[in-house]
Amino acid sequence: MDTTSVWRATAPGPGFAMLQDDVQCDVLAVGGGITGVTLALLLAEQGRRVVLLEAGEIGSGTTGHSTGNLYATTSQGLSEIASRWDDDVAREVVTQRKAAIDFIELQCRANPLAVFTRCPLVLYAREASDDRGVEEERQALARAGCLVRLDDRVPAGLPAARGPVMVLEDQAQLQPQAYVVELARRAAKAGASIHEHSRVLDLDTRNRVATTATGSVKAGEIVLATHSPKGFHLVHAEMTVHREYAVAFEAGAQDPGAGIFWWLGEEGLSIRMLGQGGKRYVIAAGPEHKTGVHNAKASLLAVEHVATQVLQPGPPLYRWSAQNYRSHDGLPYIGRDHTGCLIATGFSTDGLTWGTVAARGIAAELAGQADPFLQRCSPGRFTPAKGARTLAEENVATVRTLVEDWLTHGQQEQLSSLAPGDSAIVDSEGETFAAYRARDGELFAVSAVCTHLGCKVRWNSMETSWDCPCHGSRFRPDGTVIEGPAIAALRRKQAQLG
Ligand SMILES: Cc1cc2nc3c(=O)[nH]c(=O)nc-3n(C[C@H](O)[C@H](O)[C@H](O)COP(=O)(O)OP(=O)(O)OC[C@H]3O[C@@H](n4cnc5c(N)ncnc54)[C@H](O)[C@@H]3O)c2cc1C
Ligand code: FES
Repeated sequence: MDTTSVWRATAPGPGFAMLQDDVQCDVLAVGGGITGVTLALLLAEQGRRVVLLEAGEIGSGTTGHSTGNLYATTSQGLSEIASRWDDDVAREVVTQRKAAIDFIELQCRANPLAVFTRCPLVLYAREASDDRGVEEERQALARAGCLVRLDDRVPAGLPAARGPVMVLEDQAQLQPQAYVVELARRAAKAGASIHEHSRVLDLDTRNRVATTATGSVKAGEIVLATHSPKGFHLVHAEMTVHREYAVAFEAGAQDPGAGIFWWLGEEGLSIRMLGQGGKRYVIAAGPEHKTGVHNAKASLLAVEHVATQVLQPGPPLYRWSAQNYRSHDGLPYIGRDHTGCLIATGFSTDGLTWGTVAARGIAAELAGQADPFLQRCSPGRFTPAKGARTLAEENVATVRTLVEDWLTHGQQEQLSSLAPGDSAIVDSEGETFAAYRARDGELFAVSAVCTHLGCKVRWNSMETSWDCPCHGSRFRPDGTVIEGPAIAALRRKQAQLG
């Protein structure tokens, strides 16, 4: 299935050269999503020698597969932050996130392709059991000083509300891919050295050297802006990893206009409109699932089905999926960790704004300005009481999955008869490997053991990838890394069994 997002399909391509040298710099940013690109721009403007290495293209990670919404609250709810922490922390969160949105607005002034639009966020329930959630969120936002009101209906074109409708004014939306491409161009103009197709294959954190297939960078500081930090980091044990699915349809006759529309509940969707290149789209993003332990194609089709029923849009034009990393206590992890690198992760589905908060905070810290919010978000914080329940529940599920995986034997008999498009986990010569036969008949066989910390990978038929349920590393059928903390590819096997 083609999983290009509407953002990547409709934005101009970036076009930065691959790293082809051994270079030195003050700061290396690994990752060309919103976090890395914003940081590169800010550091270049400070006059620092900055290098940015991106494994694929600028925006090709989660940023170019998001939904492009910018809001002061969080998708789990400010009420959740207020109850885990307190109202003061909730207010800090709102202040930081509002400032980041204002910063993004400023960057978009000279970039019409980013389609930055101020709009309300509308949160509502379709079942009486979700009414309380709407009211708690309204109260938490009001206590944090936000302009929030109640309405009794949602704009025409959306599934009707059954209870209170909360409206948070002055939020925003943008075209995230067009935004980061333009920011990267400006960073390069300001002196940053930006390289695409330059995957870091080896990271020597002690000597601060990152090596790609065609060069290396020795840096004074390394910032891992890779969504989940590469290698072994303590935060991996504290985060849960989920995939979420989105579909962009041609808009139907009803158009609710600019707004972030969140409908709570099990089937709840995040809905928004987009006008781009003379076309009007309606975008629906749906419930998330833990990475590697569900049927991705079925999950995406479920979103498409529900959205088609309730929105009556035109035909689906783009379908995609992306991953989020949720911290144990509701706040992101930003700052230096035990490896000596600076990291920025745990953004949940709120990282266009959190990534901007992180980049601005790290740039300020590197300029010697202490940022109290960054202290709070320190990756080394110890706050088990603020998030233990969710994490424990998810970890139980993960451990159960792993035990089942290692007790279940492979399917030896299936390999020789593996049809084009089929995959299997196979035991052979005392080893377990992951096999996939491509549509053209080529057989790929790689070790099924994740190179991060040794969990067993699972097949994702929608995105043709092997996904690890433990910390979210994902691999192509040939074993190369797509995303997640793993650095090394899955070991390729000679597929003499084909
Ligand atoms: C379906 C979905 C919808 C979302 N919608 C929203 C939204 O509406 N609003 C919002 O605020 N947030 C949203 N988010 C979250 C948000 O998109 C992310 O948190 C944010 O984009 C993260 O940005 P980033 O720069 O940190 O990471 P990324 O954008 O993932 O960038 C990391 C980059 O690092 C690169 N990389 C990885 N490994 C290496 C390596 N070894 N060498 C070199 N480069 C490497 C990757 O290729 C990638 O481009 C959504 C998330 C999902 C899953
Ligand atoms: S991602 Fe950590 S073990 Fe696979």
